[in-house]
Amino acid sequence: MTKYTELTAVKELADLTYTMWQMGWDEKNGGNISYLLSEKEVKEFYRDQVPRFIELKNIPSNLIGRYLIITASGSNFRLVKDSIETTVGVIKIKQEGYTIIAGFENNNQPTSEIYMHLLSHSARLEVDPTHRVVVHNHATEISEMTFVHELDDKALTRSLWGMVTECIIVFPDGVGVLPWMVCGNEEIGKATAKKLTNCRIVIWSHHGILATGSSLNDAFGLIETVNKAAKIYMNTFDKRITKGITDKQLLDVCDFFGVTPKKGILN
Ligand code: 13P
Ligand code: ZN
Repeated sequence: MTKYTELTAVKELADLTYTMWQMGWDEKNGGNISYLLSEKEVKEFYRDQVPRFIELKNIPSNLIGRYLIITASGSNFRLVKDSIETTVGVIKIKQEGYTIIAGFENNNQPTSEIYMHLLSHSARLEVDPTHRVVVHNHATEISEMTFVHELDDKALTRSLWGMVTECIIVFPDGVGVLPWMVCGNEEIGKATAKKLTNCRIVIWSHHGILATGSSLNDAFGLIETVNKAAKIYMNTFDKRITKGITDKQLLDVCDFFGVTPKKGILN
């Protein structure tokens, strides 16, 4: 048995927070991450602190009894790796809320986006039993794109697929996009989870992006790929002299790699 800070998942999470800060995607307190622990991982660490119960309504039933590593509200991703005890914690999800069982020292609490995390995990588990993580950050170019592009799932997906040949292989399920919304409440959590029933990436207009996956690396890779495409879009949309990648070319890529693209986007 070890302290929770020694879990591989916690170390990977702390490493990722620093990487995302270096990319300029997590200014000040921007961004939050959560990771569903497996039963094996739950047994790997000891609990040496007094549990702290926090009430929360409308907890999804498929999460009750599960354990989640989650970042603290207000945590600065530049500093997480050197202050894990205060900026990262473990919660046990209960019917009427959750109990903090490790971390969140100095009376800290999980991210203000906890509803989004819980509802997103719940939605993804319904469609993907390998699902484990939710990563949210303020990736720059995809946020920029929401100022110059139609805010429609299909149109945005088509534009992103058209920027880099491999986008359609990395996210054949496309992206969902939400209009501007207040962040941190149950409403944005529900709207996000609804999008996640048929894709793994949701873009929050004029705010940022979140991705889900079976590992931190998996979810981060989705964000990197989407943001790379958005960067190319932003750098070229007003000065293009070629047609870009055609529907036929995208279908050829899918054919070669055995990928099924989301329906209704390519002709
Ligand atoms: P927290 O500091 O509460 O995690 O909020 C950051 C954020 O990005 C909100 O969307
Ligand atoms: Zn945010």
